[in-house]
Amino acid sequence: FNVPQPVNEPVLSYAPGSKERKLLQQALQTALEQQRDIPMYIGGEEVRTDKKVTIRPPHKHKHVLGYYHEGDASHVEDAIGAALAAKEAWEGLPWEQRAAIFLKAADLIAGPYRYRLNAATMLGQSKNAFQAEIDSACEIVDFLRFNVKYMCEIYEQQPPVSPPGNWNRVEQRPLEGFVFALTPFNFTAIAGNLPTSAAMMGNVVVWKPANTQIYSAHVLMEVFREAGVPDGVINLVYVDGPTAGDVIFNHPDFAGIHFTGSTGVFQHIWKTIGNNIHRYKSYPRIVGETGGKDFILVHPSADIKASATAIVRGAFEYQGQKCSAASRVYIPKSLWPELKELIVQDIKSFKIGPVDDFSNFINAVIDEKSFDKLAKYIDAAKQDDDVEIIVGGDYDKSEGYFIHPTVIVANRPDYVTMCEELFGPVLTIYVYDDGQWTEMLDVIDKTSIYALTGAIISQDRYAITQATYALRNAAGNFYINDKCTGAVVGQQPFGGARGSGTNDKAGSMINLLRWVSPRTIKETF
Ligand code: NAD
Ligand code: ALA
Repeated sequence: FNVPQPVNEPVLSYAPGSKERKLLQQALQTALEQQRDIPMYIGGEEVRTDKKVTIRPPHKHKHVLGYYHEGDASHVEDAIGAALAAKEAWEGLPWEQRAAIFLKAADLIAGPYRYRLNAATMLGQSKNAFQAEIDSACEIVDFLRFNVKYMCEIYEQQPPVSPPGNWNRVEQRPLEGFVFALTPFNFTAIAGNLPTSAAMMGNVVVWKPANTQIYSAHVLMEVFREAGVPDGVINLVYVDGPTAGDVIFNHPDFAGIHFTGSTGVFQHIWKTIGNNIHRYKSYPRIVGETGGKDFILVHPSADIKASATAIVRGAFEYQGQKCSAASRVYIPKSLWPELKELIVQDIKSFKIGPVDDFSNFINAVIDEKSFDKLAKYIDAAKQDDDVEIIVGGDYDKSEGYFIHPTVIVANRPDYVTMCEELFGPVLTIYVYDDGQWTEMLDVIDKTSIYALTGAIISQDRYAITQATYALRNAAGNFYINDKCTGAVVGQQPFGGARGSGTNDKAGSMINLLRWVSPRTIKETF
């Protein structure tokens, strides 16, 4: 059995007048006209409850997109029961057949579901057409196709040595129990990857998306069902996090968590699992990709235009709500006047508004909680004489949760917005004396409590080598002369260490190996 070598799904341009733009606009129109009634999916059944929660686009919060049916602890218990009931048949299925199901899911997303899923991501998570395309069309398809390839390599590994009279083999069993996929709002692709990568390896899954991503999660679930994922293998529940956690982490069959989200929630979950460790049959797999405070370091030799582009794109695409987004930047004094002008000019050219106007580059932040948090940091910066806001600083939530792209210049590298994850369109810059270059490497390393992404912009080979070594623990994905966002599956396996996660690299064989528990068999003749 051989799966084709995957190629990355091509990104469609949605240029004015293009066929794909028309199809996407139609999908947006349809979504806006239909108020969808979104059930949970447990054991193949659509489950509805008395508690219907309204879904609204973050950029037009007076509009209603639909409703999801919120569950409670009993639905989480039902989902675990359905998963365990499906387990034997699923893990007994030849892995090639599991592979075929997920390859079909990839084809459905790349083909007939593309515009509907992109429209759901645009409306539900406030992404512009390009940001939706690279997420809910390309990245999820790449995750599925590349993971199937890695899966094939795992199952077809060379067996261990067998001397005469013995036959040694290693069997890649799924985990004993069920896997909990707990997913974030900011990438439809990540939400889809976490349940499918575990399921691919023969596991059964309870999937709880972030409430703010349910609108696109349910489209993914429809795809998985149409692709042939059997009933009960992936169960999708909408329950608040702590309620789900209470049931899941107390269950003896809990076998692992595949998490992406904030560092605080992951640490809380880790402690809860630790406190319950005596309850489980096996030590659970704990895989988590968490927060970031990603940096761009500009060297005095850097190309100024390339630096401005990397900074502005890295910081403000998808309103800075990428785990990989640049949120602290270090710029040498000698380049600052010219770079400042380019950055301000570029940001001032951004159009801000709802996603259905394709010329808007900046859309809304995800919800009111996030809006209020960002506004608070901006207000604090406005009142602090030690920092200066050089562009932005405005916000407005009357129609949607809009925060204008904001750049703060701080006079010390440990200023609060240089250290804490804000998760929005707020960038902080520290301007250093050119002579302090080596010191800056040390400062960045020491202030990196997170270590997800980082970038250096430089034309000096010695400085590149020096920074690549000095910052080896400060970023799991390190970019040279590029922005720090936009990792592509199959090209740059993604994940970080320190406060940013267990670094099990999403979209890699390392990650898939976390979802098997190998058994070694020795037979003597
Ligand atoms: P979040 O931590 O608020 O939520 C993640 C998931 O956990 C959601 O499904 C949420 O409902 C659930 N949850 C929240 N509290 C819980 C609790 N007490 N018990 C159980 N479940 C709980 O994260 P978010 O706001 O959805 O996503 C943004 C965060 O995700 C940022 O910190 C970002 O850096 C991080 N992120 C990291 C990566 C990465 O690869 N490192 C990728 C994407 C996002
Ligand atoms: N692939 C996403 C990025 O690197 C997470 O920005």
